[in-house]
Amino acid sequence: MTLAPEVLHSAEATTAELLKSLIDLGMAFKDQEQIYARRLAPTAIRDLVVTDLPDAATSLADLVAEFQHDLLPLCKNEASPQFLGFGDTGDDPAALAGSLLAMFTQQNLINQSFDSPSATFVEIAVLRWFRDLIGYASPPLPEVSTVWTAGGVVTTGGTMSNTIAMMLAREHRFPGTMQSGVTDPGRCAVVVPRGIGHYSIRSSLAWIGCGNAVIEVDTDGFRYDLAGLRHALAEHRDEIMAVVAYAGDSRTQTVENLRAVHDIVRSKAPAAWLHADACWGFMATFSPTTRRLVDGIDLYDSVTVDPHKVMAVPYAVSALVTRDVEALRAISSHSDLIMQEDFAFGQVTPFVGSKPWSSLKLWMTMRAHGRHGLAALVERRFATMRDFVMAVDSRPRFLRLHNPDLTACAFLWLPPSTDLTAPDLNRINDVNKRIHGRLLADGEWYLHQFSIPDPGVLSLGEQLHPLRFMSVNHRITTAQVQGVLDEVDCLGLQITRETGPTKESRR
Ligand SMILES: Cc1ncc(COP(=O)(O)O)c(C=O)c1O
Repeated sequence: MTLAPEVLHSAEATTAELLKSLIDLGMAFKDQEQIYARRLAPTAIRDLVVTDLPDAATSLADLVAEFQHDLLPLCKNEASPQFLGFGDTGDDPAALAGSLLAMFTQQNLINQSFDSPSATFVEIAVLRWFRDLIGYASPPLPEVSTVWTAGGVVTTGGTMSNTIAMMLAREHRFPGTMQSGVTDPGRCAVVVPRGIGHYSIRSSLAWIGCGNAVIEVDTDGFRYDLAGLRHALAEHRDEIMAVVAYAGDSRTQTVENLRAVHDIVRSKAPAAWLHADACWGFMATFSPTTRRLVDGIDLYDSVTVDPHKVMAVPYAVSALVTRDVEALRAISSHSDLIMQEDFAFGQVTPFVGSKPWSSLKLWMTMRAHGRHGLAALVERRFATMRDFVMAVDSRPRFLRLHNPDLTACAFLWLPPSTDLTAPDLNRINDVNKRIHGRLLADGEWYLHQFSIPDPGVLSLGEQLHPLRFMSVNHRITTAQVQGVLDEVDCLGLQITRETGPTKESRR
């Protein structure tokens, strides 16, 4: 959509009129089928965009026109039904409304009394809804008299929520570290599943002074190998500060055996903090039919949720909720400058000073859907995933790596005449990497790619580079499911023609 010049350049156009016209522009962008209107090399974009600050002022109308002409066509539209690699569509109408209103009202949740009289309580309401979905008990409302009885904290993303969880783990293991600093990083180890964890855990340990003490345990089908977990806990008992389980890992979204992991950790390493990263798995709590997938999550000490991944809300919003409603007291900070009041979220949000009203878009979205609407949202995504699985399984040159638990499916394209009994993994990985590269360069479709240990489909434990489809976007229909598979097949065949036959077919 191009804004009409009369709107942009009319001398009488008020700020409000101009801003209203930008909503049309934003919606047209989200509604477009395309992911990108234009692709350029990074250096070409650098040279286009990175300029000196001019001395002269530019009118807002001219800036919007320049944005439309130069920047917007290069922007990624993740709400496009052809963007099939992630789920951060940010297109829920109520969430967009909440984002706009939060921007206009400019509340600052660092304090409550003068800074965010009502916003603070919207945040508390949302945290209590999250706790309820997870299965954590919350105190009766009259007992909610401080931020420490809210039972969680809204953050900027899963990385920050996980970092705060690791701070809680550290303080739980070594009370007083907030004052004394870390004295024995060797005893701050965190157990994670090998090869499938998210880097935020390792990074957060470095950020909070715990070093690089990650203990990786082997996996079986993208979940902890439970015997391996028992063994690691026994072997490293004195070093372990926390155990992390993924309710939907970042690659295949496989949900951990949460209850079994809990039972093992509580019996073998009872002092360890047990954290569930449910950035993805949170969506399973929306519907009674999918809730069983995260059975036992309410037994964990803390849970990360990441609504910008699973609730179609714009960036950036996540939350950490804790089983012990007052757990965040242990890592609070105080200042006599500001925040000397019971409902100041500034006291319980590490790393953050001024704090935006990110929870308004959640409040709007959750109210607009209601429990039933949220359930319908997740059930639709699961139905789309079932369609994808059927489609991929019906095609001879495609190989699925797993049975999807949630909304992600990793698969490989196999060159013709691949011998499944002695597959040429280098060749298969190479072709799949090239397919991904071409998809990215063309910009018409998007599938994600990563490396992952083979769960046993070709050669157990070897690194694979599959493509990944995700079924979060509500605009995906059979047309996109078939369309992207046709495209992958076509690119794969083209690449094998260009690069020659496989090792197996030469034999
Ligand atoms: C399992 C998991 N945890 C944490 C994160 C980090 O979330 P964010 O990008 O919101 O910081 C991701 C992101 O993909 C993830 O998949």
